[in-house]
Amino acid sequence: MKEQLLVGQTLAFTADPFAVPVADAARHSARGGVLLRDGVIADVGEADALRAAHPQVPVTDHGRGLILPGFVDAHMHYPQTGIVASWGKRLIDWLNLYTFPEEARLDDPAYAQEIAARSLDLALAHGTTTLCSYTTVAPHSVDAFFTAAEERGMRVVAGKTCMDRPETTPETLRDTARSAHDESAALIARWHGRGRAVYAISPRFSPTSTPEQLQALGALWADNPTCLMQTHISEQVDEIAWVRGLYPQARDYLDTYEAFGLLGERGVFGHAIHLEPRERARLRETGAGLVHCPTSNTFIGSGLFDMGGLMAEGQRIGLATDTGGGSSFSMLRTMAAAYEIGQLQGNALHPAQLLWLASEGSARVLHLAGRIGRLAPGAEADLVVLDLHSTLAIAQRAARAGDIWEAVFPTIMMGDDRAIAGVYVAGQQTRASSST
Ligand code: GUN
Ligand code: ZN
Repeated sequence: MKEQLLVGQTLAFTADPFAVPVADAARHSARGGVLLRDGVIADVGEADALRAAHPQVPVTDHGRGLILPGFVDAHMHYPQTGIVASWGKRLIDWLNLYTFPEEARLDDPAYAQEIAARSLDLALAHGTTTLCSYTTVAPHSVDAFFTAAEERGMRVVAGKTCMDRPETTPETLRDTARSAHDESAALIARWHGRGRAVYAISPRFSPTSTPEQLQALGALWADNPTCLMQTHISEQVDEIAWVRGLYPQARDYLDTYEAFGLLGERGVFGHAIHLEPRERARLRETGAGLVHCPTSNTFIGSGLFDMGGLMAEGQRIGLATDTGGGSSFSMLRTMAAAYEIGQLQGNALHPAQLLWLASEGSARVLHLAGRIGRLAPGAEADLVVLDLHSTLAIAQRAARAGDIWEAVFPTIMMGDDRAIAGVYVAGQQTRASSST
């Protein structure tokens, strides 16, 4: 049995801060402790009491550092790591000019391995311990990602990106309805539930799939109901018009998935900005997850996610970088962007809500609640320790803070990887660095 006690400030959510007043949703301790046992959180409490109860257990003291669950990035594209921050295009042109050529480069297995390792090390350096990623159409790109995650002990979700539509997809990146099904099935058999791996069946989005492919993947999901299914929906107005042209029978964008069995509780829909009332109703009724990708939605010029309205109607919502469409690997920067988008809509998200979205919210969307994203006994010991004074600008503001929320908000708004004072993956402290 391996035990250790981490000491620092702790902040644990006891309820959803979108559903109850913030004061009732979280417990802060200025001198808290987290007892880890064999990669799992065994107890959370006051440092002194835990020390007294477990005098033999070695202590790691993080001082004033704030111990939180590791961040959970619920939607990203690891193959796009190398083209993050590519200038000047909106979604469809951005895909054609930057994304598809880069994804084709991962046809080289060695390059796929290099990018998988880089993307995971960047995530860890930014305090993200779980990613839900797309890959490329090549099955070896899925192996590369799960293998790199396994080497780091990380819980990740991923799946082969499926696309077979000749009018919209370059030939080098195309599979078929049959091969998408069969290759995904083989990857599910190899990876789903192996160690900390979770498989997500991944039709990229309906414009790059034929109806036959969507049908085949719907059948695959029915055969493998414990898998997640991830895709994109209603990110840009031009994209929605494109979908209407490609699927003239569909009632709306969501119907292009629903009609083929690709709507359900374990569905994870990225962006979800320009939804119709019927789509919102069906997403809520089925309990599907929506993922807010705020840096991407501004960077690619997509629009403003309606957090206030969607939360009020009871949607399940997580938060994500969407790198490389998103412009940052940092979930701190992503929370800041979510705050700014809320402000544009008259909805100032509380720091508790932002932190909850980046941990418990994303974990719920990925059906991993209770296992990750939570500082509570029984959860896996994936943790981040934040330095709330990581730069002069942040420190001088935090010095005036009257409570934990005021103390953490400058780091949310202005923090980056310099604020990451420690990362634990399944109880092991990692040394990933984002410096070159
Ligand atoms: N829609 C389909 N593919 C993509 C992608 O790679 N990034 C983003 N942002 N949207 C998409
Ligand atoms: Zn995406």
